[in-house]
Amino acid sequence: MINYLPTYLDTTLDRAVVLGYSRIGFRLRSRAWSPFPPQALKGRTALVTGANSGIGKAIAAGLAGLGASVTLAVRNTSRGDAAASEITAAVPDAAVRVERCDVADLADVREFAAGFLGKTDRLDVLVHNAGVMPAGRAESKQGHELCLATHVLGPLLLTELLSPAMAGAAAAQVILMSSGGMYTQALHPDDLEYRTGDYHGATAYARSKRMQVALTPTLADRYAGEGISVHCMHPGWVDTPGVATSLPKFRALTRPLLRSPAEGADTAIWLAATDGLPSGRFWHDRRIRREHYLRRTRERSADRNRLWQFCAAATGVAIG
Ligand SMILES: NC(=O)c1ccc[n+]([C@@H]2O[C@H](COP(=O)([O-])OP(=O)(O)OC[C@H]3O[C@@H](n4cnc5c(N)ncnc54)[C@H](OP(=O)(O)O)[C@@H]3O)[C@@H](O)[C@H]2O)c1
Repeated sequence: MINYLPTYLDTTLDRAVVLGYSRIGFRLRSRAWSPFPPQALKGRTALVTGANSGIGKAIAAGLAGLGASVTLAVRNTSRGDAAASEITAAVPDAAVRVERCDVADLADVREFAAGFLGKTDRLDVLVHNAGVMPAGRAESKQGHELCLATHVLGPLLLTELLSPAMAGAAAAQVILMSSGGMYTQALHPDDLEYRTGDYHGATAYARSKRMQVALTPTLADRYAGEGISVHCMHPGWVDTPGVATSLPKFRALTRPLLRSPAEGADTAIWLAATDGLPSGRFWHDRRIRREHYLRRTRERSADRNRLWQFCAAATGVAIG
């Protein structure tokens, strides 16, 4: 049974960002949650990108702890092997394997997906966790702004290429790891590559995380016929190597309040382990959340459509 905080209290936490996003929100909310049934994911297969660090490593460990066979898709296999060793030390009978994939490189994504499909014909859970916040404007091998490439184009292409294996699962789930930072940004359909204006890594990051939220309903519709659900979520504020490197001042100010990686991973694991949830929604701490708090960030459906057309053209995914 799922138990929740009363809605008014949960929503108050969410609006008072510091309370909701920090470990305080997690601890208040999680007191009402039931534990996952043991081996809830036995027999299922999962793939987590960026799984050698932070939240991704915690998601992989959590899924393995529930009995799933987990592939860690990483861009550096030494770091991936180290993470796999940590996971198997914590979950002794974990079935974990490490594969190399740079999700920002569309050619690499194609090569990885072909290799993956050669070994596995079933994928139950695909977690797009890999994330970056570049210090300055950088481009992927295909010339796309790096946040766009890592958070949007790579995940979109990987989902499409692996969808035949997900269609072979009973009720596959795709999970996009967005960020609460997206609440501050609107879609910029005229400048999705962030070529104009002063470039700030945090803004590029938040814009691309907004794109993930805006694309989620389209992806949910696209794959509904194959029984694949698509969820987007944010983990709250989590103490990870990525935050230490990219946001040292934020970390110094908020450190006692930051969530652990396992706390940040919780909703992704819960989405993966819970059947029958609605597809195409935005989640945080096991609840559907609003996609906008500010009027200025609201997009028109024509803008979402332009984003989708752009991404489909950039990745070669056929619009159908
Ligand atoms: N921490 C937070 O408070 C927070 C809040 C909101 C959202 N998030 C999101 O949560 C996710 C995980 O972040 P984190 O905080 O755990 O950061 P992290 O510790 O830096 O982990 C990010 C992971 O992504 C990998 N990665 C980056 N670019 C990649 C690429 N092109 N291909 C494959 N892997 C790539 C990194 O690999 P390397 O080790 O090789 O660099 C690393 O394993 C991100 O999507 C982030 O935006 C985090």
